[in-house]
Amino acid sequence: MEKSRPAKGTVDKIVDKVVDAVSDGGPSNEIPGRPGREPAPLEEPTEPRAPLPPKPDQAGPEVFTATGRLTDVPPTAWAQGGEYLTTAQGLRLTDTDHSLKAGPRGPVLLQDHHLREKIMHFDHERIPERVVHARGAAAHGVFRAYGTATTVTRAAFLAKDVETPVFVRFSTVLGSRGSADTVRDTRGFATKFYTGEGVFDLVGNNIPVFFIQDAIKFPDVIHAGKPHPDREIPQAQSAHDTFWDFVSLHTEATHHTLWNMSDRGIARSFRMMEGFGVHTFRLVDAKGATTLVKFHWKPKAGVHSLTWEEAQLINGMDPDFHRRDLADAIEAGAYPQWELGIQTFPDTPEQTFQGIDLLDPTKIVPEELAPVQPIGLLTLNANPVNFFAETEQVAFHPGHLVPGIDITDDPLLAGRLFSYLDTQITRLGGPNFAQIPINRPHAPINDMLRDGFHQDAVHSGVAPYKPNSLDGGCPFFAGQSEGGYRETPVRVPAAEKVREAPASYADHFSQPRLFWLSLTPVEREHVIAAYTFELGKVYEQAIKERALRTLAEIDSYLCEQVAQGLGLPAPKPVNSLPSVEPSPALSQLGRTWPTTGRIIGIVADDGSDLETVRTLRQAILDGGMVPLVIAPAGGMLGADGGDPVTVQRTFATARSVEFDALLLAGTPAPGKDAYGARDAKAGNGVTGTPTDPRVLLMLAEAFRHAKPLGGWADAEQALTAAGIDTAAPGVLVAESGDAALEEIVRLLGRHRVWDRFPPAVGIA
Ligand code: HEM
Repeated sequence: MEKSRPAKGTVDKIVDKVVDAVSDGGPSNEIPGRPGREPAPLEEPTEPRAPLPPKPDQAGPEVFTATGRLTDVPPTAWAQGGEYLTTAQGLRLTDTDHSLKAGPRGPVLLQDHHLREKIMHFDHERIPERVVHARGAAAHGVFRAYGTATTVTRAAFLAKDVETPVFVRFSTVLGSRGSADTVRDTRGFATKFYTGEGVFDLVGNNIPVFFIQDAIKFPDVIHAGKPHPDREIPQAQSAHDTFWDFVSLHTEATHHTLWNMSDRGIARSFRMMEGFGVHTFRLVDAKGATTLVKFHWKPKAGVHSLTWEEAQLINGMDPDFHRRDLADAIEAGAYPQWELGIQTFPDTPEQTFQGIDLLDPTKIVPEELAPVQPIGLLTLNANPVNFFAETEQVAFHPGHLVPGIDITDDPLLAGRLFSYLDTQITRLGGPNFAQIPINRPHAPINDMLRDGFHQDAVHSGVAPYKPNSLDGGCPFFAGQSEGGYRETPVRVPAAEKVREAPASYADHFSQPRLFWLSLTPVEREHVIAAYTFELGKVYEQAIKERALRTLAEIDSYLCEQVAQGLGLPAPKPVNSLPSVEPSPALSQLGRTWPTTGRIIGIVADDGSDLETVRTLRQAILDGGMVPLVIAPAGGMLGADGGDPVTVQRTFATARSVEFDALLLAGTPAPGKDAYGARDAKAGNGVTGTPTDPRVLLMLAEAFRHAKPLGGWADAEQALTAAGIDTAAPGVLVAESGDAALEEIVRLLGRHRVWDRFPPAVGIA
């Protein structure tokens, strides 16, 4: 069988990047976020020159023709060229600031072709956003297979050491394109593998189950989750009547809803999310033997979340938090990585595993019953050059399969196989979206599809039909030995045509209970808080009462606590609660993870020990993390000394939620703008207090969000002034900056210091 043929150029480029990073000592040693390739000069440049190349952290799609052939052209050739401004037809222009007029004060002339072309194009700059998953961010990368999957699949890209270019888009589900990143929602995790056998798309989520068991309910669940149709509020969230109306009536949604109400609904970063294929897929080996599998992405950085208060603050402070985090991490050389793994199950006629129906997308198979076996490593190592061309125009489809990977009869998947292609016709303006650069396969295309809006290929021949004799009979069928795709001849049960679900789909509560019991006490506290918050935003009393009835079927403590918060009686369960075995693998807590890409804020002022600040900055960069210096004003600290420290944030611009941990270089005195009339964060003003009140706010927030924090020199004074007990877990006042950093990084490896806040006694 033909081996996967990854695009040489891309893979070389990616390997080079990794080699560069490693030979440089890894991280890029610069604070990420510079908007352009070169620093902007003070005056407008006037000397003609070629456009600047993309930044080193960026890569556009490889240059393939519309018919899937690799060209010799470098990827930068997708960009605009030449030093002079032109029209879309290549005509050089002398002016783009003034319309053509009959005299300086005269009317604008209709003959101004440049004005009309420029405005016409601008008028059509937007395309319809995705119906769901409208807001997202993406990156390029490479997938290297371990070869461990070759026992169960003939997919060439899964053979040992084959490297395949990929493009991955993460998204929220409910919000529109301009909505905020850190809303409580499921996240999409869609991966396009450009294999030599054609494109394979793994279009999954960060939650392993779905709200519905049959795709025919998808418009219902989305209509319920989207903003109310009359006022179009609220944006991008489920804390409203229509969502809870639907999920409390349609109880198969209970499991997914519970995951959304857990910390999984408020991820700290795209880099710190698991991904799941959700459905069961069927793998086929070289001899035709089949195995059922579920796909899992396991992040090397661990699975971490925000706290709910943090998520809400971030939505105001930095609505682009997740997309910035992804791009900055890649620019800083802290390449996000995931292992792809599979759970395997025998392909029996019942398609169940230990009593769990594998065709029911509201069910998981606990990892304790079927371990996740790693099959390859995904590394994201380049940011897109152009958001629209790549992230917005990418088109995923669960039906993009390669030999060795097949689907099952999950009725949710069946509807998806129709929906994605159908919606993309509207979103991408016709049927030729596979020819858009980011969607072009890295395998030859010979499809006999012709014409249509935006046809980029120039097809030769006269016989785009089969059979033909006029084009020499081309193209021909491929047998399996030439990589031809053949659907697995699965036996279809003798049955009657019905609109009904199998009996096994009726169990809506045992797996939600399993998930609840698998969480640690602090994670359960968060679930209770999330239900109480969301249902507290619901207007209709009946909907709250109905939602409580579903909670009663999961766990009585959960139900009672939420009922208490809502001021309602807790109902009793109708059925006796099922006895289930918890799955510890479902909890996010209790392990230690790498800290690469984490952001450490260093609070300092001109009176701080800047020598140590400099050393710590470098140590943080060397550790693959990002140090951001927070000071009373922008510019430099120690500007009159020999080696000043650049300031990235000021007390006015910073908020604790940007940082994973805080280090305090002493007790920073109040800045000149530390008064309420200028900056409300400063409250009543500061006369006479030794510490800037915005620093106190930052410390207090970081403390209640369970973040590691500490400092050296007289940092204790500021911590105490912020009302923080310096003996509390994860708060340290060290002898030296080095000692403080070492301990902070150790604590960061566990993400949060939850010991600081013991959960309620009754929850364990
Ligand atoms: C297991 C259940 C599902 C998962 C994991 C899932 C996942 C996703 C993801 C990740 C995206 C965003 C792709 C991107 O980044 O461009 C997406 C988009 C979309 N999904 Fe789903 N989805 C599921 C169920 C469904 C169902 C049942 C339907 C319809 C019957 C559906 C229809 C759509 C549509 C129309 C889009 C927009 C596609 C586009 O405009 O390109 N999804 N889905």
